[in-house]
Amino acid sequence: MSNPSPTPELWNAVDRAFEDWLAPADDALNHATAAATKAGLPEIAVAPAQGRLLQVIARTIGARRILEIGTLAGYSAIWLARALPEGGRLVTLELEPARAEIARGNLAYAGLSQQVEVVTGRAVDSLDAMIARGEAPFDLIFIDADKESCPQYLERAVALAREGTLILVDNIVRRGRLIDANTGDAGVDGARKMMDMVAKHPRLEAAGIQTVGAKGYDGLLIARVTAERTPAAPAVARIYETILYGSDLDAAAAFYSGVVGLPVAVRMGDRGVAFRLDAQSVLIVFDATKTVPQHETVPSHGTTGEGHIAFSVDDLDAWRTHLARLGVPIEREADWSLGGKSIYVRDPARNSVEFVAGRVWNL
Ligand SMILES: C[S@@+](CC[C@H](N)C(=O)[O-])C[C@H]1O[C@@H](n2cnc3c(N)ncnc32)[C@H](O)[C@@H]1O
Repeated sequence: MSNPSPTPELWNAVDRAFEDWLAPADDALNHATAAATKAGLPEIAVAPAQGRLLQVIARTIGARRILEIGTLAGYSAIWLARALPEGGRLVTLELEPARAEIARGNLAYAGLSQQVEVVTGRAVDSLDAMIARGEAPFDLIFIDADKESCPQYLERAVALAREGTLILVDNIVRRGRLIDANTGDAGVDGARKMMDMVAKHPRLEAAGIQTVGAKGYDGLLIARVTAERTPAAPAVARIYETILYGSDLDAAAAFYSGVVGLPVAVRMGDRGVAFRLDAQSVLIVFDATKTVPQHETVPSHGTTGEGHIAFSVDDLDAWRTHLARLGVPIEREADWSLGGKSIYVRDPARNSVEFVAGRVWNL
């Protein structure tokens, strides 16, 4: 075999040789694999050589807190948890209760129950709960669950990270289908969307690596989280709105400037008047019948007079991440009839708070 062709059989044989040299199975790993087989679970755990790679990476970066999305029977969790130093912790998320139970058994058999928590439920929900309760950042995050949710996992992983956290995403290449926009496969589309997000993400620097081995031709995304970027302060941080429906704008303007004593910032023809409240805030009194012609189809605008506050921000993604870090749940997202997008969060003191993408008002 002087110059062998790289066939799947050969990749497999080399993987087995790596396993023999570098990642030999022991009782706990064999037990986990046997339990998964006995329960009829699909053979989708990482290969031994990959498990060893995860472990070496975790040790190299000195990971004390590891998050895994996608537990199955806990095989990769065993490799990762064994990399933890004294007092370290691994949280692993699994949708299927039966799989989570098998994983707990396998981790207990491996003597790792103290270090590892298996959380059952939809990973997106578990991640949101962690963000909401202000979970400390993780040093290493291994994403290995359903591929269609990769964009959501990535966004939440960044929210649960610090500068220097490593995010690894498994199985992104999928025999090269990653570069095909027309597979119609939700998993491939999810991985592609995630790659787009990574490419544009202000807090990620990443590399992709193609792999061959016991699991065929696939690949791994390796992303490092960089320093947090504070969203740029908008010129006008707060816009308070009062909406009129065809009422006398001049009378309203006279009231706010004359009686309330607010300086006029700008007059927007017959559509509205903006008053400066302070260096950061303006109050806009506008006539919805002239400003939002189809205002009755925009329910949020029908209620804004009851205490709705809009923030003008440039970068909605940055605000999503920022809100996630603050543990503020996003209530909903919406398209503005005037153009732009908004995200709404609940504010118990008012009706709602709206973050508006882009400068909607040209003040
Ligand atoms: C590839 S397996 C994980 C393999 C495991 N990391 C290993 O190497 O041993 C993916 C797992 O993710 C789980 N999963 C799929 N969708 C999920 C979701 N929405 N939330 C949480 N887990 C999910 C599946 O049930 C499956 O057990």
